[in-house]
Amino acid sequence: MKRIDLRSDTVTQPTEAMLEAMMKAVVGDDVIDVDPTTRALEDQLAKDFGFDRALFCPSGTMANQIALMLHTRPGDEIICDALSHIYWYEGGGPAANAGVSLRLLPGERGCLTADLVASAMNPENEHAARTALISLENTANKAGGTCYELEEIKAIRALANKCELPVHLDGARLFNALVAKSQKPQQYKGLFDTMSICLSKGLGCPVGSVLLVNHAQYYEARRIRKRLGGGMRQSGFLAAAGLYALNNHIDRLAEDHQRAEALANILSECDWVKQVVKPQTNIVIFYPHKDADNIIKLLNEAGVDIISMGGGALRMVTHMHITNEDIDVCRRIFSKLAV
Ligand SMILES: Cc1ncc(COP(=O)(O)O)c(C=O)c1O
Repeated sequence: MKRIDLRSDTVTQPTEAMLEAMMKAVVGDDVIDVDPTTRALEDQLAKDFGFDRALFCPSGTMANQIALMLHTRPGDEIICDALSHIYWYEGGGPAANAGVSLRLLPGERGCLTADLVASAMNPENEHAARTALISLENTANKAGGTCYELEEIKAIRALANKCELPVHLDGARLFNALVAKSQKPQQYKGLFDTMSICLSKGLGCPVGSVLLVNHAQYYEARRIRKRLGGGMRQSGFLAAAGLYALNNHIDRLAEDHQRAEALANILSECDWVKQVVKPQTNIVIFYPHKDADNIIKLLNEAGVDIISMGGGALRMVTHMHITNEDIDVCRRIFSKLAV
């Protein structure tokens, strides 16, 4: 029986067509000078989102960490939402790599407002840490794949301009947000100083994230990537998967969103579920009445894998290997679960 793996959208395997594109990639040495396929991927994403350059990185974590190190000095403070990935899931990287502290704000389901950001700016004096960066996350993973309204991002950008602060976007699942909100990459032009975008989540690549930067930051960003061990030689084999995904795997994200909604509806009818957070993209967060760990175990025994997000919250994520038939199987399993 097929296992239904809803732990994350990072569990996908490359399709035959993606593997074929990878096998045919023309590659060079991207550390000595350039790998042409990597450059093509970087240039496509930079152009689409209105940046000068981009850097292919091994992971979203590295792309985010390079951005934090680019924009800050040790002792600085970064404003971000309390549910941010950079705080929860990057191994303490902001402190270890950039030497910064994080000002964690209680946003609305992982999304900040300009007013909230304004309230957290430190005064310019010797007692306070220097507020150096605003970091947003779209979609916000831990909040359940929630999306920013473009107007709110613009308001935060306007505030940042007034305060002469850079703004970074952790866009690990930015394409999910674009599809959910019917937005185009061009609408993000000029809103961020740096953006990280993951190819290995809903887009289905085995590896890879891209950090978008402008000319002034490019060489320093490359230096930091090298220092962190992220310079990759024949990276074009991996970048080819990214190019394939950009051309073939974006529109289909809408299906993942529909299936996440279907899962949320099924869960909300189960008597062992206390609360389901309404999904906006491909992530469903829900709270069982009791013992979340036991629910994970029971579902695992029934062939469905999910994970805990802590604090009694459980998470299911749809992705390209989850079909409508799988959702039907989930309906049967969930309704009969002997909790
Ligand atoms: C919002 C967000 N940012 C960054 C990352 C880091 O990506 P990676 O696992 O490639 O380091 C993730 C991974 O799940 C994520 O959800």
